[in-house]
Amino acid sequence: MEKRIITFGVIGCGLMGKEFASAAARWCHLTGVDFEPRIVAVCDANPTAAQWFQDNVPSVARAYSDYRELLADDDVEAIYCAVPHNLHEQIYIDIIAAGKHLLGEKPFGIDRAANEAISAAISDYPHVVVRSSSEFPFFPGVQQIIKWVEEERFGRIIEVEAGFWHSSDLDPGKPINWKRRIATNGEYGCMGDLGLHVLHLPLRFGWKPASVCALLNKIMEERPDGQGGMAPCETWDNAILACDVKTADQQFPMVLSMKRIAPGHANTWFIRIQGTKLSAEFSTKNPKQVASLPYEPGGQQAWHVVDAPYQSAYSTITGGIFEFGFSDSILQMWAAFCDEIVHGKEGMQQPFSCALPEEASGSHRLFTAALESHKTGSTVAIDWGNEG
Ligand SMILES: NC(=O)c1ccc[n+]([C@@H]2O[C@H](COP(=O)([O-])OP(=O)(O)OC[C@H]3O[C@@H](n4cnc5c(N)ncnc54)[C@H](O)[C@@H]3O)[C@@H](O)[C@H]2O)c1
Repeated sequence: MEKRIITFGVIGCGLMGKEFASAAARWCHLTGVDFEPRIVAVCDANPTAAQWFQDNVPSVARAYSDYRELLADDDVEAIYCAVPHNLHEQIYIDIIAAGKHLLGEKPFGIDRAANEAISAAISDYPHVVVRSSSEFPFFPGVQQIIKWVEEERFGRIIEVEAGFWHSSDLDPGKPINWKRRIATNGEYGCMGDLGLHVLHLPLRFGWKPASVCALLNKIMEERPDGQGGMAPCETWDNAILACDVKTADQQFPMVLSMKRIAPGHANTWFIRIQGTKLSAEFSTKNPKQVASLPYEPGGQQAWHVVDAPYQSAYSTITGGIFEFGFSDSILQMWAAFCDEIVHGKEGMQQPFSCALPEEASGSHRLFTAALESHKTGSTVAIDWGNEG
């Protein structure tokens, strides 16, 4: 099959920039797609980070240290931008104004004002495809749960719980980095870093919190600064957000949690939906398994746990019995982004698109209200404006 090549530039060649390089390098994993990304240029303020691409990605022809030079590169059609949160606003706006499609990283701006400025740029350039990274919904078990929600299989929703939990920060000897500083990560702390992953599906399902009561927790006061001293650890480590969701015909509690210090959890993303007709659960802790409890009035309440087959949104060479993992979810997300660039939202090969800018903006509404809730010790109403 002839493939339409999309030329990409990468801005930010760190942890996530390299993940994209790896996904692009194994595009042959996907069957039946008529598009393919090709990384032709990279940019990082740190030349060593860019050098990794030059050493490992043969298609990279140019490396820049100033992203404006990359944006002036006419051979670049689309950009993946994975830089610290304080840089999102300016760099995303400049990418969009340069007319290049953007897969940006969450939280899409360090705070709500930055996010609103990015949203304004998106409105000014409607032909540019702008999406946010959020890979977990592409796990086959999650795709199954999405289908059940779309088919309205849950009946009346009793409650929803979703979270994203890390644990490496339990180690007090872990050195400080930009993700633990307000200037670079933002006032939201763990919410900005982990939160859109948790909110992406609830917002896609239309489950907007009408109010939030937040419990925010700073556990580590300081960390090694990498130069023999200690540096203050400024950001929220853990957040528990108790939300009251109101939809056109339902109202239910939704508890969202984002934790950097959840002992024993390396990268656990989960969603649990309880309903009067069906309940379902998925966690990356058991990435193959999806649990469901169908219920008929008076009938048995028994959980069914199945090994979800490797049946991804975009078909692959992998046999159905094999396991799906983090890098597979990244590859699927990239396929969705490239599909949308080439075929448009309505023409995509499968219907699940990457996280939308409106979903990123929704997360900012919630996190801003959560900060206020914690400060005032009260439940804070969330104004969804025209979107409500
Ligand atoms: N989707 C996910 O699962 C996931 C996971 C981790 C991080 N992230 C997000 O990805 C983004 C980057 O995080 P990371 O973990 O890759 O960080 P990182 O620190 O590993 O990489 C960031 C890179 O940006 C570079 N950089 C800094 N200033 C720059 C500038 N002015 N111009 C060009 N490059 C510059 C740094 O040198 C570094 O190489 C953040 O928004 C973060 O929230 C997403």
